Amino acid sequence: MTQNALITGWGMYAPSRVMTNDDLTQLVDTTDEWIVSRTGIRERRIAADDETTTTLAVHAARDALAVAGIDANELDLVIVGTCSPDYPLPATGVLVATELGATRAAGFDLQAACSGFLYALATGSSFIRSGMYRNVMVIGVEVLSRFINWQDRNTCVLFGDGAGAILLQASDQPGGLVGSDLFSDGTGCEGIIVPAGGSKMPASAETVAAGQHTIHMLGREVFKYATRQLADSAIGALRDAGIGVDDVDQFVFHQANLRIIENVEKALHIPEEKVFVNIEKYGNTSAASVPMALVEAVAAGRVKPGDRVLMVAFGAGYTAGAAVVEWTADPARALLAPGAQTRLGMPRVEAGELAAAR
Ligand code: ACO
Repeated sequence: MTQNALITGWGMYAPSRVMTNDDLTQLVDTTDEWIVSRTGIRERRIAADDETTTTLAVHAARDALAVAGIDANELDLVIVGTCSPDYPLPATGVLVATELGATRAAGFDLQAACSGFLYALATGSSFIRSGMYRNVMVIGVEVLSRFINWQDRNTCVLFGDGAGAILLQASDQPGGLVGSDLFSDGTGCEGIIVPAGGSKMPASAETVAAGQHTIHMLGREVFKYATRQLADSAIGALRDAGIGVDDVDQFVFHQANLRIIENVEKALHIPEEKVFVNIEKYGNTSAASVPMALVEAVAAGRVKPGDRVLMVAFGAGYTAGAAVVEWTADPARALLAPGAQTRLGMPRVEAGELAAAR
């Protein structure tokens, strides 16, 4: 019997250091007004010197394990969607698995830029549906602050660091991923690119001096393409699930630019109140953006058992990914998981409240 891949655990981590738009005015010629009106971003989180992509991912994954109530050694696979790994090699997924204590698990990285989490969700679900694995940790994580040119106002105002994780578990109950759509178009290679450090332009003193190891972006082209493709990918996943826009209870879009989200909302006739937005707090956290928004949407009581959630992302490549998920887990599980709430920037859950939630 084919197994469904249910989301049974979820978690996120945002570094504690907040960088506001006003802080950025100290670095580049920009204003809070420009950044807010063009992007919707008010602040972003920046990893501390001793934090890495692995450490952020481990925080989020530990929360997901706590919410699901399973041990790391029960994991079969850890997939890390990221374009800002600790190293070009070895893979961050391997390091995360080891740090978690997932001694039996395979681990690898999946690079689809901002769409990495959606690609990883489809991949993890497929491993479960094929019968190969039962417990798969799917993580979207970035420390993009280490890949940014802090003198380039076109890019440095946009990005932030963070991690989101979900645990997928095999079940014969209905739910989990019920529709998906993955897209790629390499003609957009120059749209968002880190030009140096790969086989085409190996790192050298010259490439570093020219800032070619940092993110370069053609903002206007990306904006137009992203708006169109996010809508197309959303429709693709809805078609795959056999449902329409009105059947979706919660939309979780990639948080790249508030204006892109609003354009897609209009194009698909989605009521604003069904769209979760947290870009103002975190900026564009690339592969981490959708899982962080999902975790916060659940924490805000916007997702409940039986709901259909549509997640869509767009990124460098170009890539895009969309997924319709039938939510099955009790959101209160996160309240019962010790420590999980504190990493959402929400008030610590006191013992009395915990008892009441039980
Ligand atoms: N502060 C002040 N002015 C700025 C800033 C800034 N931070 N950045 C750019 N400007 C200037 C530009 O230089 C330009 O000036 P000019 O007209 O004199 O040349 C002017 O503002 C307007 O620039 P536009 O590019 O037209 O601004 P736009 O409204 O398109 O907004 C933005 C730019 C925010 C980058 C937008 O194009 C965007 O969001 N693009 C999409 C980004 C995205 O979705 N990325 C997703 C994938 S990322 C990944 O995969 C890792």
